[in-house]
Amino acid sequence: MWGGRFAGGPSAIMREINASIPFDKALWRQDIAASKAHAAMLAQQGIVSAADAAAIAAGLETIAGEYAAHGVPENWDLEDIHMVTESRLAELIGATAGRLHTARSRNDQVATDFRLWVRDAIDGAEAGLKALQIALVTRADEHAASIMPGFTHLQVAQPVTLGHHLMAYYEMLQRDRSRFADCRVRLNQSPLGSAALAGTGFPIDRDITARALGFDAPTRNSLDGVSDRDFAIEYLTSAAQCALHLSRLAEELIIWASQPFGFVTLPDSLSTGSSIMPQKKNPDAAELVRGHSGRIVGALTSLMVTMKGLPLAYSKDMQDDKVPVFEAAGLLDLCLAAMTGMIAGATFRTTRMRAAAELGYATATDLADWLVRQAGIPFREAHHITGAAVKLAESCGLSLDAVPLTDLQAIDPRIDERVFAALSVDASVASRASYGGTAPDQVKARVAEARLALGLE
Ligand code: ARG
Repeated sequence: MWGGRFAGGPSAIMREINASIPFDKALWRQDIAASKAHAAMLAQQGIVSAADAAAIAAGLETIAGEYAAHGVPENWDLEDIHMVTESRLAELIGATAGRLHTARSRNDQVATDFRLWVRDAIDGAEAGLKALQIALVTRADEHAASIMPGFTHLQVAQPVTLGHHLMAYYEMLQRDRSRFADCRVRLNQSPLGSAALAGTGFPIDRDITARALGFDAPTRNSLDGVSDRDFAIEYLTSAAQCALHLSRLAEELIIWASQPFGFVTLPDSLSTGSSIMPQKKNPDAAELVRGHSGRIVGALTSLMVTMKGLPLAYSKDMQDDKVPVFEAAGLLDLCLAAMTGMIAGATFRTTRMRAAAELGYATATDLADWLVRQAGIPFREAHHITGAAVKLAESCGLSLDAVPLTDLQAIDPRIDERVFAALSVDASVASRASYGGTAPDQVKARVAEARLALGLE
């Protein structure tokens, strides 16, 4: 393709280090689409004849059929997907194939292909996120009033509802979706026609190709057009943040599935056994979601470090942009699907969850609040009195609401029998009806809004 200036061919090492076809063959659909748009525009502008453009388009169609049926041939001598396709086109239609590369460079070609690919990856993530949100909202609806301990420092803090807990992840994923959508807006400009770096002397129309490929507009600076990889970094940033959320949920499922907790039984279809311990059922899918988040964060780091310090415009380092993005996108899709399956198929052991909430003095704050409200005691003093009550209950091995009234009154005589109504986990949860709180009515309201937003109503 560029042999004119060279006396000899590249060495085996040069061929190997240069070849991107083993991975950039994943761009073949985008490459063909962009080439077809470019050829049609060249004809429209009178830069190539209509007959030549038609031959090119037909040849590209044939190649697409071949790739779909047999895969992309990996010829290292041809370096990358762009050269592999162009050389196949020459085999099919002869010298006319050489007109396709008029007013174009592989630099704007790869920038265009890659944007199209990342745009599809964003749309895939969006669909996966929505599916997981639907699973979360469905389970939250079922468990709007199921009581579990809420934790801080992984110590029992206050009772909450399982629905409330699951809806917390709905909110995180909602932000993830908005990050992906936001990055899609900035991505959606066409670099095609930036040519090598400086634009072209041919009378091209960049609006035509931009529109044909579903972009909102052409990029405004050709140097930036070929060298910008922000769109890929933004995609990876969004993917990394999403992966962190999935990892936290995975970690909770792993803890909840362990025998001392016993809050959840994960579906058999997403668990594995042990080759030596017959009783084992391991939450491997959740562990791998947690593990894969590290690789997705690694992909982001990889691309940021690749781009740092590159002068304008294109440098071959940028060929290394693809592997981390491809890897992260595949992992993210898989993690979203695995998590959706786990949430949809989990059996929540609500009796155990409730018992755990009753065990840990989770309603101590409710006693303190009662003292403030019913006896007009300042909160700090109420906190101290409640501490003494918890200490007493602990020493007798009783829950707070099982401590005899006379013992509570010995700690503070302002306590009366009405306090017991506030000390049950149900009363505690029902009382937290502030906007966004854990009360079942609040959870139901948030679930209803979410169902509407997801198009389920
Ligand atoms: N395979 C290259 C890449 O992925 C295509 C662009 C090559 N451009 C060049 N000037 N060598 O970045």
